[in-house]
Amino acid sequence: MATWLSRFLISAALLGMLSACSTGPARAPATLYDQLGGEQGIAALTDAALDHYAADPRVAPAFAHADIGRFRRMFAQYLCQVADGPCHYTGDSMADVHRGMNVSETQFNAVVEGLTASMTSLHISVRVQNRLLRRLAPERGDVIYK
Ligand code: HEM
Repeated sequence: MATWLSRFLISAALLGMLSACSTGPARAPATLYDQLGGEQGIAALTDAALDHYAADPRVAPAFAHADIGRFRRMFAQYLCQVADGPCHYTGDSMADVHRGMNVSETQFNAVVEGLTASMTSLHISVRVQNRLLRRLAPERGDVIYK
């Protein structure tokens, strides 16, 4: 009985090893950029977020004099870089960009909320949403009260 069982376990282990080998070279795990839908996904996310910001009285006044075309381009580029996509963010640091705006915590939370709602509306999973939000959270200190 013991011999039969150990043979069975050894065969099962060998089969497992074989099937692991047969999958070929390990594929690199999907980047956050891929999980967000690549260039098109990030463009859609940027547009959806902009719609939220335009409709949110906590955020909209801050963008009253902004160049929205540039913001769209630069924000998408920024997200692409943060998500390990094939982009190089060419804008200024978060502290320099937001200097003089005196962005409040409420506004910061509103921007994060708008981004989260946009990801939900684009059917991005909560796990992927959290992956992006975790990468943006450290920017908080560089954005608010500058
Ligand atoms: C995680 C939070 C945030 C990130 C990652 C972020 C990122 C950016 C980026 C990448 C740009 C474009 C920079 C450029 O044009 O070179 C930008 C511009 C801008 N951001 Fe933010 N931002 C954040 C939060 C906020 C908040 C809370 C506000 C205020 C409600 C805000 C207001 C603006 C405005 C008004 C501009 C346009 C500036 C201009 O063109 O004159 N941002 N932001």
